[in-house]
Amino acid sequence: IVCYYDSRAASYSTPTFAKDITSTNCTHYVYDGIGVTAQGDIRILSSYDTACNVELYNAAIGWRSEKLVNSVAVFLEQYNFDGVEIDRRTTDFDKNALARFVNRLRSRLYMINKRLAVSVSAQFVDAYDITSLSLYADMINLHAYNFTTSTTNTVANLAPLFSSTPNNVVSVNSTVTSWLAAGVRRNKVNLVVATYARTYTLASDAQRAVGARSTGPGEAGPNTKRPGLLAQYEFCNIASEYTSVSDSSTSTAYYFKGRSWITIETEDTLVQKFTYILDNMLAGVGIFTLDLDDTSNTCGNGAYRVSELAFQYFTSE
Ligand SMILES: *[C@@H]1O[C@H](CO)[C@@H](O)[C@H](O)[C@H]1NC(C)=O
Ligand SMILES: *[C@@H]1O[C@H](CO)[C@@H](O)[C@H](O)[C@H]1NC(C)=O
Ligand SMILES: *[C@@H]1O[C@H](CO)[C@@H](O)[C@H](O)[C@H]1NC(C)=O
Repeated sequence: IVCYYDSRAASYSTPTFAKDITSTNCTHYVYDGIGVTAQGDIRILSSYDTACNVELYNAAIGWRSEKLVNSVAVFLEQYNFDGVEIDRRTTDFDKNALARFVNRLRSRLYMINKRLAVSVSAQFVDAYDITSLSLYADMINLHAYNFTTSTTNTVANLAPLFSSTPNNVVSVNSTVTSWLAAGVRRNKVNLVVATYARTYTLASDAQRAVGARSTGPGEAGPNTKRPGLLAQYEFCNIASEYTSVSDSSTSTAYYFKGRSWITIETEDTLVQKFTYILDNMLAGVGIFTLDLDDTSNTCGNGAYRVSELAFQYFTSE
């Protein structure tokens, strides 16, 4: 049970700090919010900037990888982390350079007994050297949600487990199957699920099925203030005003009110994904992120419900 904490949560109106997640029962915690500079130095991102981070990171992998490998090792020891996760969820990088970097980092981290994880975007199988990642990474965290791009102007489920029309809709199953077919080692793959809601504004309140036209992201939440996204606790505060529609063939649920449209996991859809993990003998689950889950029991099922559910589910087996 690999749980993410996004350091942006420390700057929300009601913040969630890293110390707040210590009551959860995850086996691994990933602190999301460390970047690198073009010179190959590590930087703690105070005001988080993903775009900037990615650009600098590519530069560092290409030109300063020896320096970066060493900076990572020094940083892990300095702050007493157990390991590092390399976040490569975009496609704008050279897969061979990434494989070489992971290989070098692996050798260096053996010397100090630290772990190495790589997070990848599930739908871009071709963008990775899967054989190398399977060899050198201790974990491959497959982020299998939010498949549609910002340029798509239709509403879509956040993470359908199965495709309703098998050959064209991207699903958790279609992506996991592709990774397995490409030779990834099952026992290194954690299937990462999202705790947040993705929200849209419908073009018309007469068309609200999956695939209906959208004019863009829904309004930002009062605490997270990010258009197109609501934390679980923000969703629970408004959920009673919404009509819900669930679909058992794709294992999804969506919610609508007027022109507002929301897609989020439910306990049922999560449990079906957990079952899928066991059925396919994957290593485990990832939870992205703890701070976007129900941090303060707003929904009434207990704080940090997703990690608790995973804990109950996977430790009872
Ligand atoms: C989900 O995908 C959209 C479109 O690509 C993007 O704008 C948004 O930031 C993503 N949400 C998260 C939480 O990654
Ligand atoms: C899962 O995906 C594979 C590959 O696309 C497909 O053959 C299989 O039928 C899918 N399973 C279900 C239950 O849809
Ligand atoms: C964590 O696990 C312990 C048992 O190891 C259990 O007593 C506790 O309730 C769990 N906490 C959560 C938040 O699930």
